[in-house]
Amino acid sequence: MKSDKTILITGGAGFIGSHAVRHFINKYPYRIVNLDALTYAGNLNNLKDIQGHPNYHFEKADIRDRDALDRIFNFYKPDWIMHFAAESHVDRSIMDPLAFIETNVLGTANLLLAARKHWQELQGKLFYHVSTDEVFGSLGAEGYFSEDTPYDPRSPYSASKASSDHFVRAYHHTYHIPVIVSNCSNNYGPYQFPEKLIPVVIQNILNEKPIPVYGDGTNIRDWLYVQDHIDAIDLIAHRGKTGETYLIGGHNELRNIDLVRLLCNIMDHKLGRTKGHSENLIRFVKDRPGHDQRYAIDASKLEKNLGWLPMIKPEIGLEMTVDWYLKEKEWLAGVTSGAYQAYYEQQYQNR
Ligand code: NAD
Ligand code: DAU
Repeated sequence: MKSDKTILITGGAGFIGSHAVRHFINKYPYRIVNLDALTYAGNLNNLKDIQGHPNYHFEKADIRDRDALDRIFNFYKPDWIMHFAAESHVDRSIMDPLAFIETNVLGTANLLLAARKHWQELQGKLFYHVSTDEVFGSLGAEGYFSEDTPYDPRSPYSASKASSDHFVRAYHHTYHIPVIVSNCSNNYGPYQFPEKLIPVVIQNILNEKPIPVYGDGTNIRDWLYVQDHIDAIDLIAHRGKTGETYLIGGHNELRNIDLVRLLCNIMDHKLGRTKGHSENLIRFVKDRPGHDQRYAIDASKLEKNLGWLPMIKPEIGLEMTVDWYLKEKEWLAGVTSGAYQAYYEQQYQNR
């Protein structure tokens, strides 16, 4: 298939980025360049099925490395940049904030510098910045985040993402770089690294290990199946307005404890264990410092302007996710070997 556009996808070996790479390769005749540093969170096994595809190229590179970005921009001359690469885990940001400033703030600034330097002609260009609802802070029992909600980041992770969002918008206002920012709620699905709640729960149930629930488990997240996020990004990138922001959310608010219990039931059923078996593994542990209470998204701009709606209902999405992890035991074993054990011990020893 002849390529009519080159998209540089950063962080394409991570959880959401790998779904994006697969989606764009399979759906469009675009040349896809996956730029990823392969940190602990990056894994080329996430993309085994498309290795060797004629439109797919992988570049092991770090967005903190400006020379590497220059080389890649010179060589591939990307039309679009879809920027997923980031340090993405809140608990790690509490342990090591600087790593988040370096990758999420400086790395994004480096990409913007490269775009400005290499994009002489701005027609047909797009810098799509993938961001998070955590930049808006925390909600009480009522209300939703919308495109007009003021920024109020409260963890080193969300502060670094907020900063990167501001730089992206500043490049639009100052240098007219065509940018779009989307801020999405919590994703789940295949290939999510088992440091995030859902895969931690699945893996601990499988191994009959304690399931750590932070605080009293009443914190609320708005869960979205990862393919729904990718479909939204696809739509926004092709039909959204440059200079604008779109919020993406699942209409699926769940208290952590209710989500964990749901997963326990699904897993007991699938593993042929008696109902209630896995719930016995739940342990309420010391809370995450500064733990945001509730996130919830008003996605009406995206729904009304571009006709997007999440397609995967949570009951179905969670079953699909559990089925995937049960099938891909080798993948799970691979990513939880080596350095992962030390991280897990350090993370949970004081809780
Ligand atoms: P992830 O941690 O699974 O993957 C991040 C990827 O970025 C990895 O492949 C890693 O190797 C790569 N990377 C990290 N530092 C890099 C660097 N310096 N240079 C090049 N590559 C580097 O993250 P994810 O959960 O897939 O999140 C992807 C993006 O989506 C992030 O920007 C995140 O802020 C955003 N986001 C995530 C969620 C979510 O629920 N996971 C929700 C909303 C927005
Ligand atoms: O809202 C979007 C964000 O969602 C993304 O920007 C982040 O990249 C992504 O990591 C996610 O952040 P959260 O902190 O919400 O996700 P996490 O899976 O770490 O935690 C979900 C909730 O579960 C949160 O309230 C903390 C809690 N939790 C988490 C873990 C890992 C537990 O109770 N126990 C755990 O072991």
